[in-house]
Amino acid sequence: MKITRMLLIVGMLLLSTTGFCSNQANNSKQIDKTIKVVVPQRPAGQKDVLALRCDPIKTVRIGFVGLGARGTEAVRRFTYQKNIEVVALCDLHQWRVDSCQRMLQRAGMPRAARYYGAEDAWKKLCQRKDIDLVYIATDWVNHAPIMLYAMEKGKHVACEVPAALTLDEIWKVVDTAERTRRHCMMLENCVYDFFEITTLNMARKGVFGDITHVKGAYNHCLWDYWGDYNDNWRMLYNIANRGDVYPTHGLGPACQLLNIHRGDRMQTLVAMDSNPVSLPAYLSMHGKDAEAKAVKNGEQTLTLIRTVNGKLIHIEHNVASPRPYSRMYQLSGTRGFANKYPVEGYALESKDLPVEVTGGKQFTAHEYMPEESMLKLMQMYKDPIVKDMEQKAKEVGGHGGMDFIMDSRLIYCLRNGLPLDMDVYDLAEWCSLIPLTKLSLENGSMPVEVPDFTRGAWNRIKGYSHAFVE
Ligand SMILES: NC(=O)c1ccc[n+]([C@@H]2O[C@H](COP(=O)([O-])OP(=O)(O)OC[C@H]3O[C@@H](n4cnc5c(N)ncnc54)[C@H](O)[C@@H]3O)[C@@H](O)[C@H]2O)c1
Repeated sequence: MKITRMLLIVGMLLLSTTGFCSNQANNSKQIDKTIKVVVPQRPAGQKDVLALRCDPIKTVRIGFVGLGARGTEAVRRFTYQKNIEVVALCDLHQWRVDSCQRMLQRAGMPRAARYYGAEDAWKKLCQRKDIDLVYIATDWVNHAPIMLYAMEKGKHVACEVPAALTLDEIWKVVDTAERTRRHCMMLENCVYDFFEITTLNMARKGVFGDITHVKGAYNHCLWDYWGDYNDNWRMLYNIANRGDVYPTHGLGPACQLLNIHRGDRMQTLVAMDSNPVSLPAYLSMHGKDAEAKAVKNGEQTLTLIRTVNGKLIHIEHNVASPRPYSRMYQLSGTRGFANKYPVEGYALESKDLPVEVTGGKQFTAHEYMPEESMLKLMQMYKDPIVKDMEQKAKEVGGHGGMDFIMDSRLIYCLRNGLPLDMDVYDLAEWCSLIPLTKLSLENGSMPVEVPDFTRGAWNRIKGYSHAFVE
């Protein structure tokens, strides 16, 4: 018995120092295979638009394209903005344009020019000389064509999420923004939610130490909403496409925490999904058996992303399963932890915090801090942006106020000739999960290289910041 055990140990030692180890090395070589994604060369004479500053615009003249649920809500919010003019309104449907026109009228604002009735009526809006900003809230497939045309006509653009769907679209948007030197911002409102913007401020001031892992998600059962989208565009996109097709609400706040293209960069991703079950069941229940059989979008899609600096991002997408809404929003750092869904909380060591926050209580980062300490901490680290407009944002609303903060920051930066809070590279990186997760999934969850959309400039700016007038 003893001899057998000894032989076993000697055998294992031999294996670990010879054959087994070299096999491992061979295996790890094979595992190292990553799907390479081509980065098109920047055209000669074209420069990046990092920290782009344009001429200040005293009164920002806006044309809105796409006046469905989201676009109409945007026009409503803009009736509360100062130093803007709503110059033009455009939708496929006249009734939607007229409904927004009435909203302007009720707010005592001048009548806007109206465009409707044709798929490309927005081109006429973009051709106007008296518009500075085209604000887009159509279905997804129209986003990139409208942004590209508007920038070619000299307009700044702000576009709903996700602003681009394929790598081809993304590169066209990046190239056009660089060539025309126009602002191109994706309207990712979740970075302005109160917990996220406060936590970002804390992270930037080092409260969590070195942040190593961040989570974000769009887990939102759309069962009650599928019927609301114009011509069923959202369901059709989910039927036709595998992958995380709505990544930006989770990824945007995560990338800001990790200073993506401001000192770090997403390098590799891997995606995995579960079979679609609830969407096919929904379609069958509505007598659409053929569509039910065709659904490509997984019930739950998970994406893991590793950055050049060795940080990890975990992103989820699920619009099908009955479950509570969650954008996850969780971070782990070397000094603490933050979590938003389902319970907002921070875990930090009381010894690292001022007594105004702890109230003299002792706690460790192994558990959530007491609620009164959390509220004091959030007060202490309230971002200047929130300090300025919290009350007004909550009155106007739009997802509790974050949408009003987003619009206000956009207008403030345009009026003052400042770089916008989110640039075209944020748009590119956050949207790139759509084609890249699809690529990974269709290749057995192989790792996929995330392109450097800045083409070499990702490390020039050190750390994420919001621009202010000096
Ligand atoms: N950030 C957020 O929190 C949030 C919330 C909801 C929706 N969204 C985004 O907003 C966008 C719109 O979503 P929605 O819920 O309002 O959808 P919707 O279907 O209600 O509205 C889309 C509108 O676009 C119009 N449209 C389509 N093609 C057009 C064209 N060629 N020219 C002019 N108008 C055109 C349609 O007529 C419709 O009125 C989507 O990108 C969606 O993802 C974002």
